[in-house]
Amino acid sequence: MPASAGVLATVERMPDRPTDHAGRVRHWEGVYQRNAVEAVSWYQAEPAVSLALIEALGVPRSAPVVDVGGGASVLVDRLIGSGSTDVTVVDVSERALAAARARVGDDPRVDWIAADLFTWEPDRSYGLWHDRAVLHFAAGAEVDAYRAVLERAVGPGGAVILGTFGPDGPEYCSGLPVTRYDAAGLAALLGGGFEVVEERTEAHRTPSGATQSFVWLAARRRSS
Ligand SMILES: C[S@@+](CC[C@H](N)C(=O)[O-])C[C@H]1O[C@@H](n2cnc3c(N)ncnc32)[C@H](O)[C@@H]1O
Repeated sequence: MPASAGVLATVERMPDRPTDHAGRVRHWEGVYQRNAVEAVSWYQAEPAVSLALIEALGVPRSAPVVDVGGGASVLVDRLIGSGSTDVTVVDVSERALAAARARVGDDPRVDWIAADLFTWEPDRSYGLWHDRAVLHFAAGAEVDAYRAVLERAVGPGGAVILGTFGPDGPEYCSGLPVTRYDAAGLAALLGGGFEVVEERTEAHRTPSGATQSFVWLAARRRSS
């Protein structure tokens, strides 16, 4: 199935949309330099939907978890706090990772990787791939690159959680156009090798009081 299957709306590219690694680093480092981590629109004090879906998937505490584009999210704090022993946070912004690391401390259970998801080459397999609000920035060949990295990182039986802006969500985030998905679009992106476990919608309340519509998909990679 083509990467665009099930996609509800793709906004025209902005002329200055970063299309290479250096551009993405520049963009996201700038975002985290200009804004406090609690002030960005995607900030949430509690990653409630993520934790509920992790529970629904029955991910064991010992499973290696990767939070891709995790930024300064508190998901890593909550996972470690509830007994997870192996958490990796990947982000293109070293500044975002540093903010999270300053909170969590140098914990041997956490691996921090500054990398671009579209070129990252994971050297191990994860039991859970978690993405909140990163996939929707991918366009064209980046979506294919994203899926290739995911398939390399998640082996048979592994779990995947994807959270993106929904059909009536914003068309832009942090100055960049996004692709909005419904649950069928996310399932189509993963393809037939994954079994859908749960779908959710969420109205995310931003720090400035706006509401953003999110769609979530929890899935498991089939064994064959
Ligand atoms: C909207 S924020 C979401 C952050 C986090 N997942 C959360 O829920 O708080 C998007 C994050 O993805 C990161 N990001 C964007 N493009 C990326 C890429 N190509 N590779 C790795 N990280 C990326 C940004 O630096 C940023 O931290």
